[in-house]
Order: sequence, then structure tokens, then C-alpha cells
Amino acid sequence: MKDLLRTEHLSRADVELLLDTAAKFAEDPFLARSTLANQTVGIYMTKPSTRTRLASETAIAHLGGTPVFLRGDDLQLGRGETIADTAKIMSGFLSALIVRTFAQSDVDELGKYASIPVINALTDADHPTQLLADWITIREKFGKDVSGRKFTYIGDGNNMAHAWLIMGAILGAHVVAATPDGKWAPDAEAITTAKKIAEKSGAKIEVVHDARAGAEGASVLYTDVWMSMGDPEAERAEKLKALSPFAVTPELMKLTTSDSIFMHCLPAHRGEEVSADVIDGPASVIWREAFHRRTTIQAILYHLVRGELTGNL
Ligand code: CP
Ligand code: NVA
Repeated sequence: MKDLLRTEHLSRADVELLLDTAAKFAEDPFLARSTLANQTVGIYMTKPSTRTRLASETAIAHLGGTPVFLRGDDLQLGRGETIADTAKIMSGFLSALIVRTFAQSDVDELGKYASIPVINALTDADHPTQLLADWITIREKFGKDVSGRKFTYIGDGNNMAHAWLIMGAILGAHVVAATPDGKWAPDAEAITTAKKIAEKSGAKIEVVHDARAGAEGASVLYTDVWMSMGDPEAERAEKLKALSPFAVTPELMKLTTSDSIFMHCLPAHRGEEVSADVIDGPASVIWREAFHRRTTIQAILYHLVRGELTGNL
């Protein structure tokens, strides 16, 4: 596998390898300090980022390389140069490209025309690098055995909900998305993909439209912002109203298991999708989860440039 364009492209073996390597990079960030020596890695973003940018630049530096940060407006792409031409030029200078943008199809196209590894650092549809950080954090708490546990994402049926269902499917877990019905439910395509993977992995994929049903007996309660980057402002009031029953409150946490954890990819809006008591409380693992953005992106870069991921295509 040349690229990491979509969560669904990872095989179970790829995820195991990436999480094992990330654990090593958590112990010693400088373990493979010459992997990218004298090389550059591009980070192209047309949306804001705090964690993914910092984690990527740090991971590249720890592997001995130099990050080149390119904001959306910086490239001729914004003036009509094609994605194919851009990908070919980038391939002549960079050893890998990390990209965050709106359309998944743009990332897919960059991967198609670039000869270097292209890594999806969030699109409207997916967020694969985040899910690796999430699952290493989950394993630190519960170990590798997912049997008998329920892992619930609650809130907007967005890119995070899609990636949550698909990564859970790859790992053979019982994953749930608890979202409003209709407009803000996860995309049918993502649910179908997750269910297809689950047929082989033995995972259980559930989509429910009731917050309490989602939280009941869950070992993990995971949420995300209600307004994602690029969401139409005109829909804000309607969307927040639809999502208000899905806020993670101490009352909702009471329905989860006694050893449950609270997770959030961040940024967070206290008092909106999660109450401060929960996100700043003892069950929250958000800082460890954010720490692992670096360890996992470092592992992705390390294995992709060495051609060591097999993929499940
Ligand atoms: N979780 C995440 O992707 O954070 P940023 O948007 O800050 O990169
Ligand atoms: N769903 C959010 C995730 C941010 C990391 C967004 O796309 O803005």
C-alpha cells in the first residue's frame, strides 16, 4: 500500500503493526531518527489544524526529516493548476505528503498521481490518523481484547463517526454510532463499508438514534464537535437543536461501565457536545489521546516510506 487515503484501506495486520510501532515511538521518539534524514515531507492543509499539524511536524522532525508546511492558498492549485500536475511536482521534491482538505476525492486523486506516499490528515468523510491515536489510547486502558466491550461514538454522524465505525470493524469490535436520524446520521456508504468489513472480522456495527441506548454499557464514550470545519453556518441552530440530546453529560456517563473512559478528538466545546465535568473529569483520556497523534503519525510515516503496509485492497 503506497498511501493512507482512507481508514477502510488498512488491513487488521497494518493496524496492529502501526499501533505496535507507535507504542515504541511513545517510549523513544528518536528510535528511527535517520528514516527521513535529508528528506522533506509536505503538509498541505486547506482547513485549520492544531494537533495534526503539530503532531505531523514533530513526527517528521523525530524521523530526521524536514516538514514543509503548505497552506491552501500557498499553491497554484488555488489558481487552477490541476491536482495531477501538483501531485507530480510534489513527488519530485518530497518523500511523502500529509494532506487535510474538504473533498475525499481530492485526496484520492493526489494519491493516484503522486509517486510518494499520501496520507489523509482529515477530509469531510474520514480521519484515519485520528483513529490510530484513539485505538492505541483505548488499548492502553483495556488491552487488546475487545470481546464483551462496547465502544460508542455519540454526536454528529460526520467524518469521525465514519472512521469510528470502520476502524472498529477492522479491529473486530462492537462499535456503535449514536447520532440523530436523517440529515446528521452517518453516511450510508460508511455504514455499508463498516458492515462489509465486519462480515470478515466478526465486528458488530450498530447505528442508533438514542443517546441513552448508545451510552448504556459502553466502555468508551467518544464525541466530536457538532459543527465541523466547512459545515454551513446557516444550519447551526437547526443542527445544534437536533444534537442537543446527544451531549455527553455526567448523567449519560452513569449509564456506561464502571471503568469507562471519555474520548474526544478535540477541539472541544465545553457546554456543547460535552460538559466540562466530563471532559475535565477522571474518566477523560483526552490528553493521552492527543499525545498519541504524534506517535501514530510517526508510525504511519515510518512504515509507509519503507513500503511495509499491505492494505486490504
Ligand atoms: N483532532 C484533530 O485532528 O485536531 P486538529 O484539527 O487540531 O488537527
Ligand atoms: N469533525 C471535525 C473533526 C476535527 C478534528 C471536523 O471535521 O471539523
